[in-house]
Amino acid sequence: MAVVVAPNKEEIMRHFGEFSELQELMVARGKDTQAEKVARANGLIDAVAVTQDKPLGLGHAVGCAEEALDDDEDVVAVMLPDDLVLPAGVMEKMVAVREALGGSVLCAFNVTRDEVYNYGVFDVEDADADIDGVEVKRVRGMVEKPAVEDAPSTLVATGRYLLDRDIFKALGKIEPGKGGELQLTDAIELLIKSDHPVHVVVHRGPRHDLGNPGGFSKACVDFGLKDPEYGDSLRAYMTERLAQDS
Ligand code: G1P
Repeated sequence: MAVVVAPNKEEIMRHFGEFSELQELMVARGKDTQAEKVARANGLIDAVAVTQDKPLGLGHAVGCAEEALDDDEDVVAVMLPDDLVLPAGVMEKMVAVREALGGSVLCAFNVTRDEVYNYGVFDVEDADADIDGVEVKRVRGMVEKPAVEDAPSTLVATGRYLLDRDIFKALGKIEPGKGGELQLTDAIELLIKSDHPVHVVVHRGPRHDLGNPGGFSKACVDFGLKDPEYGDSLRAYMTERLAQDS
C-alpha cells in the first residue's frame, strides 16, 4: 500500500511501525489485549510513503503513486481515507466488475441534486452485465463538481477507484481543471473518450465524509453506537444529552 503524504508528514507511517518494547511491557503487565492492538497495524500490510511535494490536486496525488507500482502491476485501487463507504467490501465488488468487463471501475452513490456541486458526477447508461448482487452502470462521461444545472445525473463518485494502469498516461496529459487543480475526474474522462471501458458499482448503503468536523462526528457516533464495548454507554449519554435544551 502506498500512502501519499505531504512533505514533513511522513510520521503518519509510524502508525504501521513496530513497537516491540511497548508490546513486551504490556504483555509483562498482563495487558494482552492492548498489546495486540499496538501490534495490529504492523501486521496488516506492507505500507510505503510517497511524498507529494505540492498539493496540486487529487489527479497529481494519484500520479505520484506510480513509482510505487511494480512493472507487472496493471491496476491500482485508490481509496480516499476521508470517505467511508459502509459496510466495507465495495472494492471486492469493483474487482468482480473489472474481471467481468475489464477497464476501470468506480463507486457511485446517489445524492440530492443540490449536493452534486461537491462531487465528480457521472453520466451513465445501463450496463450489459449481470454480476451477482451488484448494480453496475456504464459511464459515458464524468464531470468534476459541476453547477447543479449542468450535472448529467445525481450519481456521484465516492473515494473508491479501481483504475487501470492506463490512468497514469491520462494523468500525464491533463491540464489544471476545477479549482486550478489536476483532477482525477478529468483523467478518467480522457480514458472514456479513448474508448477505455469505465463502469460504476452503485452503492446503496451508508457513507461518511470524514473531511469535515460534522461528517467526522456523525461517523464517530455511528461507529460508537455499534461498538460492543462502548455502545451502551454512548447511547445512554446521547439520550440524556439530547433531552437537554442545548
Ligand atoms: C474528490 C473527487 C471527487 C469525488 C470526491 C469524493 O473530491 O475530486 O470527484 O466525488 O472526492 O469524496 P474532494 O472531496 O477531494 O474535493
